[in-house]
Amino acid sequence: MILHPSPTLKTQAIITVPGDKSISHRALMFNALATGTAHIENMLMGEDVLCTLQILRQLGVPITLSEQYCIVEGVGGHFQQPSSVLYCGNSGTTMRLMLGLLAPQPISVILTGDASLQKRPMDRVTHYLRDVGVSYPESDNLAPIIQQGCTTIPHFDFTLHIASAQMKSALLLAAVQSAGGIVRGGKSSRDHTEKMLKGMGASVLQEANGDVQIQPSTLKAQDITVPNDISSAAFFMVAAVLSSQTTIELPNVGLNPTRAGIIHTLQRMGASVTIVNQREMCGELVGDVVVYPSCLTGITLNKDTIPTMIDELPILALAATQAYGTTIIRGAADLRKKESDRIHSIVQMFKTFGVDIVEYQDGFSITGPQSIQGGKIEGFGDHRIIMTAAIASLISENPIVIENVDAVNTSFPNFWELFVEIGGRFTS
Ligand code: S3P
Repeated sequence: MILHPSPTLKTQAIITVPGDKSISHRALMFNALATGTAHIENMLMGEDVLCTLQILRQLGVPITLSEQYCIVEGVGGHFQQPSSVLYCGNSGTTMRLMLGLLAPQPISVILTGDASLQKRPMDRVTHYLRDVGVSYPESDNLAPIIQQGCTTIPHFDFTLHIASAQMKSALLLAAVQSAGGIVRGGKSSRDHTEKMLKGMGASVLQEANGDVQIQPSTLKAQDITVPNDISSAAFFMVAAVLSSQTTIELPNVGLNPTRAGIIHTLQRMGASVTIVNQREMCGELVGDVVVYPSCLTGITLNKDTIPTMIDELPILALAATQAYGTTIIRGAADLRKKESDRIHSIVQMFKTFGVDIVEYQDGFSITGPQSIQGGKIEGFGDHRIIMTAAIASLISENPIVIENVDAVNTSFPNFWELFVEIGGRFTS
């Protein structure tokens, strides 16, 4: 795909991004486990979530898709032994949460994924589950993973070594179906699991320091309207900020404080971002985000802020190229374990674009403003890198060429439509 520089975008656009990926996975999985029928509205129909949906069907969960809803008939705690491999595609959330969800079930499953997912560490979850009786006759780290469930998981008290919501959620899902447990160390990682499980009747206590205690509980199905994904909205926020004259309004964006780091960070950099019509929807904060062209200043990102915007660091890097002064992002080593080694991908991409960027083992720094020269990148099979390159093309001096853009479908299937909607231009 060839992305052409588009210095003049529309002056005004209303961009409705799709439903939140993290919440969509959880709405499907938790309602599948629950008793009763749930209607999920505005569920993301991206490839990652469709993998979760397909796997739940293999586990005996009746799921129907109507025009407006995804209807899930909960199995009341009893998944069926699947007859084939559970394919998680590119989705780390699917694989890690499935490990926890299925850990207390008397079934044996084989989980696998695409080439990228087969390289991502799963022992950050299996290490804990093995300790409480779950078995892994072969690999407990790289997929394919065979997991044999354990119906007698005892109460546990674990401290995570990474502030990861995927690890925390997997362990909470195992605990809620067993003897309960405590998961410590997940401070400032997204808390959709805690909120949704509470909404479905589980006894969950979230402490101020981020520790979570959960009691064994039976879940009741809950209708859910999924807020729009702040991680998808972030691309259009930065497009507006870096534009010369474009205001973009993003309706119904999820603003859960454990996800809203990108908004606070852009504001700290001097961006004009306002939130209107803030309200609560199914236990999650949502609002309409309005973003204006702005002049940015570099910042040093606080380590505690990183989990609240872990997926937005690629697009923040683009904002940093246009900010006056130095932006320093450190303490983000886990970025190397995402859909690609994102520190490497970000650094390689911006170097190709002619940007001077410094790579650290745990982050990067950029001193701006610097012009984006354009060039050819490979995309790294990583949706967030490809979408960052697309937004970069809007302000680039020359075209940006990306070899393969298919990965965008994992989280944002209508990205290109909305990109054109604001005035972006591409040819295939
Ligand atoms: C996610 C949590 C984050 C994030 C991922 C989705 C989730 O990963 O990067 O895209 O839905 O729980 P970690 O919690 O491992 O940092």
